[in-house]
Amino acid sequence: MLTNRQLFLLHLGQTSPAPLMLEIEKAEGVFLFGPKGEKYLDLVSGVSVSNTGHRHPQVVEAVRKQTDSYLHLMVYGEMIQSPQVKYAEKLSSILPSQLGSIYFVNSGSEAVEGALKLAKRFTGRSHILYFSNAYHGSTHGALSIQGSEKYRNAFRPLVPGTYQLNFNDFNSLDAIDDHTACVIAEPIQAEAGVVLPNPGFLELMRERCNRHGALLIFDESQTGFGRTGKMFAIDKYGVVPDILVLSKALGGGMPLGAFISSQDIMSSLISNPQLGHITTFGGHPVCCAAGLASLNVIIEEELAESCTPKSGLFKKELDHPAIKSIRGEGLLLAVQLKSKEQVSKVVAKAPESGLILDYFLFCNDAFRIAPPLVISNIEIKYACKQLLSLLDSTL
Ligand SMILES: Cc1ncc(COP(=O)(O)O)c(C=O)c1O
Repeated sequence: MLTNRQLFLLHLGQTSPAPLMLEIEKAEGVFLFGPKGEKYLDLVSGVSVSNTGHRHPQVVEAVRKQTDSYLHLMVYGEMIQSPQVKYAEKLSSILPSQLGSIYFVNSGSEAVEGALKLAKRFTGRSHILYFSNAYHGSTHGALSIQGSEKYRNAFRPLVPGTYQLNFNDFNSLDAIDDHTACVIAEPIQAEAGVVLPNPGFLELMRERCNRHGALLIFDESQTGFGRTGKMFAIDKYGVVPDILVLSKALGGGMPLGAFISSQDIMSSLISNPQLGHITTFGGHPVCCAAGLASLNVIIEEELAESCTPKSGLFKKELDHPAIKSIRGEGLLLAVQLKSKEQVSKVVAKAPESGLILDYFLFCNDAFRIAPPLVISNIEIKYACKQLLSLLDSTL
């Protein structure tokens, strides 16, 4: 009989030449467990997904409760489903008032597609501006606004009318003009290796969009739900977009995405043509129930607020000559080493030290630290101790 490992390679479509290949049987809090008793401390959160940790009891209970009522009923937007309604109401209550209309989809890429379509439809324009080293997903539209040729060039032709600007280059914002439907940005660029916006950059983006009637889209797929020390990065920078994209932690460990706007902007998808965006599974009731429970945990356990001191503890403990810098905000950190080779060795060897680490797509001299926000100070100290001895033994 073939092992799961063999079946994984045989029957699951592979795109990574070197997958992590860790078999996981159970996950709880910040830990993942293998079939032979292996225990790994998760410093990645499935890439900014598991903000409330794995299998938080309140999230599991919400999923259980919803499965007792109903699963999928009908394509999105036809029937009144209380998990969707309650979650949309809660999200509107914590977002700026202009962001009160929420369209749920299944993933980040899909939310980005919806946001781009909405901007084109509302403005009647076709030009889309995006930034160098941006990552917004892997579908055709999202790939067309990926700020690196590496993963997209082989798939051309892509969506026309997309133009790349340089992140943090104030002059490049002059490209925003009366043809621009939208500018899309991650307020903190995650896959670029956690690149923060220079002071005033997001503000100028907002001002230029206002001046030319272009819509501003912020993709908070990775920065949302407390990860950078505030519930959303827009709370940190005080710049409100016309459309907000959320995904990853939005579903509390279940697949969920959303593009969010004002009633006025969103209503442009109702006519000419009607049904301007359609999804079968978007806003799945079980995912919405899980997401709402997870958001309540983030608020009740003050996880956003806890991120800044936890981030400080990581930065203090990770004192090692091999570490050139630690960039980031809250629990979205990039640990920079001297070279790509060093990063590859450390990430590959991390499981042997009981840690899960990960690369960034567009920054090869740093690895990611983005643990569940529920990580305790004791767990942070343990993780750092393991990491320091890993650096000692590997480099
Ligand atoms: C900022 C950002 N936007 C969008 C996406 C795409 O999300 P998904 O993989 O759910 O389609 C990602 C995924 O990593 C992301 O980091």
